[in-house]
Amino acid sequence: MTQDIEKILLTEEQIDALCARIAKQIEQDYQSSPKKLILICILKGSLPFTAELMKRISLPIEIEFMKVSSYGASSVSSGVINLHLDLHRDDLSDANFIIVEDIVDSGRTLSYLVRYLTERGANSVRTCTLLDKPDRRTVNFTPDYCGQIIDDYFVVGFGLDYNEKYRNLPYVGILKSSVYGG
Ligand code: IMP
Ligand code: MG
Repeated sequence: MTQDIEKILLTEEQIDALCARIAKQIEQDYQSSPKKLILICILKGSLPFTAELMKRISLPIEIEFMKVSSYGASSVSSGVINLHLDLHRDDLSDANFIIVEDIVDSGRTLSYLVRYLTERGANSVRTCTLLDKPDRRTVNFTPDYCGQIIDDYFVVGFGLDYNEKYRNLPYVGILKSSVYGG
């Protein structure tokens, strides 16, 4: 897999440091809230990020999973959000939610999810992303917590995939454009 990587963008050490920084911010923001805090891991890409983040938050939290897709087998967004796994809770009004994502690109996925959970009555909804590519935005959206802003590269590793591959790389790297025919 490493021969397909152009350049490493975030090392394991840098990922550890940014997870610790975000966990501290979340602790400060939610420590005095009487409502419970629920992290929603967006499958599959944010699995490693959610795992590294949650163990550093020293508040009582709960974990949920949702699965959405905006991409087919391509490195270009299709623009359509499909909900594959929904939240199995009736009453969302007793909780503050943080949606944990791997990367924000067009912004469609997270703005859709924020709207969806808000309409279902969540007490509050915030978003947390490992990476953000603001240059690619097509909708007006800013994440509440962000690990690292990056330029417009297609990146893989630490959960991020191309055609379901490279998720298990321990670092985030730029995929060689020859791999996806770019
Ligand atoms: P958005 O809805 O356009 O913001 O797309 C967000 C989703 O696109 C992420 O959850 C990823 O699954 C995928 N994505 C966007 N950019 C990349 C990338 O550089 N590498 C891998 N997946 C990406
Ligand atoms: Mg994703």
